[in-house]
Amino acid sequence: MADKQAKLEIGGATHEFPVLEGSTGPDVIDIRKLYGATGAFTFDPGYKSTASCESALTYIDGQEGILLHRGYPIGQLAEHSSFMEVSYLLLNGELPNADELSTFEHTITNHTMLHEQLMTFYRGFRRDAHPMAIMCGVVGALSAFYHDSTDISDPEHRKISSHRLIAKMPTIAAMAYKYAVGQPFLYPDNSLSYTGNFLRMTFGVPAEEYEVHPAIEKAMDRIFILHADHEQNASTSTVRLAGSSGANPFACIAAGIACLWGPAHGGANEAALNMLQEIGTPDRIPHYIERAKDKNDPFRLMGFGHRVYKNYDPRATVMQQTLREVFEALKTTDPVFETALRLEEIALNDDYFKEKKLFPNVDFYSGIILSSIGFPTTMFTALFALARTVGWVAQWNEMISDPAQVIGRPRQLYTGPTQRDYVPVGQR
Ligand code: CMC
Repeated sequence: MADKQAKLEIGGATHEFPVLEGSTGPDVIDIRKLYGATGAFTFDPGYKSTASCESALTYIDGQEGILLHRGYPIGQLAEHSSFMEVSYLLLNGELPNADELSTFEHTITNHTMLHEQLMTFYRGFRRDAHPMAIMCGVVGALSAFYHDSTDISDPEHRKISSHRLIAKMPTIAAMAYKYAVGQPFLYPDNSLSYTGNFLRMTFGVPAEEYEVHPAIEKAMDRIFILHADHEQNASTSTVRLAGSSGANPFACIAAGIACLWGPAHGGANEAALNMLQEIGTPDRIPHYIERAKDKNDPFRLMGFGHRVYKNYDPRATVMQQTLREVFEALKTTDPVFETALRLEEIALNDDYFKEKKLFPNVDFYSGIILSSIGFPTTMFTALFALARTVGWVAQWNEMISDPAQVIGRPRQLYTGPTQRDYVPVGQR
């Protein structure tokens, strides 16, 4: 029995519910028996006060601006580790030693190729298809190619399909780009790093040797780390919900990609850069700030605000620093960056944004970096999906490994008509 209990009084009767404590963070009132005991549901659209699962992967303290993966602060991981190390950490719970890391990298690079038949899927899309549309389709289609790893009750199958997904995502994303620009697909080069390989498959051409720029490779790898996992966000919850029915992992990740696409979630990086380009020059900022504050105007400052962070998003801090490093390495700059810095400064000093605790999030600066590296805006969310795949599969694995796992099945507050009799069409 839990030490703490929560009391709920409904219609004069008092009911007690255990209060569960995590290793850190808010306590959780365990209401699993609420309906049986009271006949009532809880009502929490948007899950603002609901813990949907138990998880040991990622911890966020939104008030303090803290993000930990398996206990390690995101700032330390972004500075000292690699995306492969973080992937191993998320999947296995501990940082790898040198041998474990090298074996893991080898395993991932050995799964980077796509089944040749998958190439034909791309040709079914229009050339102007959004890369996220292609990603949804092609990742879902992987289910039809890897029957040997879709027995979700077998931990070995789960491991193989997780590795396949992490490994193939850069190939799938790079091919979506190549298809859009009308260039030939490039096969992976397994002598390169995970991130270097992705850059080559995206920007290389068969006729020429492609040299991976070390600073860009490092920046890209860091961007992947910053997007690797983020607790029970909308797309991760989508993956878990899809997975809770026993659906195969490829189908579940395709569902996650679909959810991530929305502008309130992963699509915000694309929307943020479009917005900054539309604003154009710092003198136009006040007009857009007023629009963002106007209740009758649907416009929002994209890349601003977060459901959990009510203090600076720690990923945005690293992202801004990475942006400066990329500009330095490429000996370039972008007037949009000046606009972004000025917009941030004005918003952070504005009462509306201060009161609502709205700060730049991970998406505010990422688009500027990706654009300076050469990615078109439509690819931004695809890159987010590529990196988040590791979080999705780690969360999916955690859920399936839990013996208490059941299908996710929310209930509702019904407000439609009560029972009535059918009226034949001629009598209506
Ligand atoms: N610009 C202007 N006002 C805002 C913004 C914004 N970007 N974000 C929130 N608000 C206002 C909102 O109008 C509301 O005002 P009121 O209380 O008067 O109704 C208040 O702040 C609270 O907003 P909310 O929509 O209830 O908060 P939420 O937790 O449901 O939404 C959010 C979080 C991220 C969807 C929202 O802040 C937003 O739409 N931001 C812009 C899109 C964006 O940058 N998304 C990326 C999120 S980080 C990466 C990821 O998770 O994928």
